[in-house]
Amino acid sequence: MNKMIEEAINVLKENDRGGYTVPTSRLYPFQWNWDSGFTALGLWRFNKWRAWLEIISLLDAQWENGMIPHIVFRQNDPDYYPGPDIWNSNNEPPSSCLSQPPVLSSVVWQMVDKGTPYDARKAKEIFSRLMASHRWFMDSRDPVNKGVIAAIHPWETGRDNCPDWDMGLKNVEVPKELESYARRDIIHVDTEQRPTKVEYDKYMSIVHFGKKVGWNDNVIYNEGPFLMADPGIQFILLRATKDLLRLAHHLRMNAALDEINNWIEKLTKGSAWLWNETVGGFCARDMRTGKFSDGITNASMLCFYAHVGDNLQREKMATHCERILKKCKYAFPSWDPEHKCFNKIRYWRGPVWLIMNYMIEKGLNEMGYDKLAQRIADDSKKLVNTAGMAEYFDPIEGSPLGGANFSWTAAIYLEMNSVDISKNITEN
Ligand code: GLC
Repeated sequence: MNKMIEEAINVLKENDRGGYTVPTSRLYPFQWNWDSGFTALGLWRFNKWRAWLEIISLLDAQWENGMIPHIVFRQNDPDYYPGPDIWNSNNEPPSSCLSQPPVLSSVVWQMVDKGTPYDARKAKEIFSRLMASHRWFMDSRDPVNKGVIAAIHPWETGRDNCPDWDMGLKNVEVPKELESYARRDIIHVDTEQRPTKVEYDKYMSIVHFGKKVGWNDNVIYNEGPFLMADPGIQFILLRATKDLLRLAHHLRMNAALDEINNWIEKLTKGSAWLWNETVGGFCARDMRTGKFSDGITNASMLCFYAHVGDNLQREKMATHCERILKKCKYAFPSWDPEHKCFNKIRYWRGPVWLIMNYMIEKGLNEMGYDKLAQRIADDSKKLVNTAGMAEYFDPIEGSPLGGANFSWTAAIYLEMNSVDISKNITEN
């Protein structure tokens, strides 16, 4: 078996904490929402049962209202801040109180589509949970029925300190009564590669507000300090809803079809609100002021994955894609390298993330942009082959950044190499 594939499998095994997988030891010692989704894809390639367990353990933390939290705290760990006592979720198991990009239904659909009746049986058991999580997004993050999903915190977007959020964070005031705190992330990773103190104070101020209003989604939507639309969440949810529809047909869940179709229609219409004519691309947008971010990101590129936009819009996005690829040795940077805010090593302000590459490549392939898709697939493999299973990578130098031995990087590497362990075992 290829040495790197073996290594990727080992990373996933070493990050296994018994029923769930941590993103990496020390820096992220709990279960993260979309990390577990992508991790399940990788696990599925060598241990199906363990892949389903990953999903079931994540859903074990789903809230009554359908929300799947972004972090599940199975135990306390002084190595991480903010831990369970700060979020104060008041439920079991303790969790954070916001969500993350909803990749789960797409992951499940892929496992069923490529799988056996066993996978379909497992999916059937959790189908109503998936429905509830989509319903929560539609009701709580779009209570005004606009078809545009709001993120109430940069952490909800999964792209924590992307310049997209600078505009929304500007309005966040740090309250005098904000508890003092000691960050733990910068003990494990170079400060140059992590969000700044100013950003972190604002992140904690939004948490402070949420706690103050008892994490009431309605109050947060209407009065919260931060409310932005994210092409990442919007396009990932739309794609996941389309995959949920495929799953519903496959499992003959006919009673769910109307509701799902209705969500798809709404989200498709709402996606047009993210088109920034000045930039000629899909961008993040402040929900309160209507002001656009002016940068093309790896999340903008997910328009292909969601199959949104008219022909002209797609061509414009493909042109951006080509232009950006020319500027980088390794695809695909999290921020436009020609924009003044580009920083090749700082968290989500430039570096490459394999999970984003995976979705971009899939979308480009499906929409007929084979050459662009191929470049992204090749670069992704090259990055891991030379720099290992890093959390993220420098798009110019290809060097590893952030945490090492990262679960989702290992998982996507297995996925991109279409690893079939049973074949590998017999071949060796
Ligand atoms: C960071 C990332 C987020 C991810 C988490 C765990 O917070 O920004 O997307 O889920 O790390 O890997």
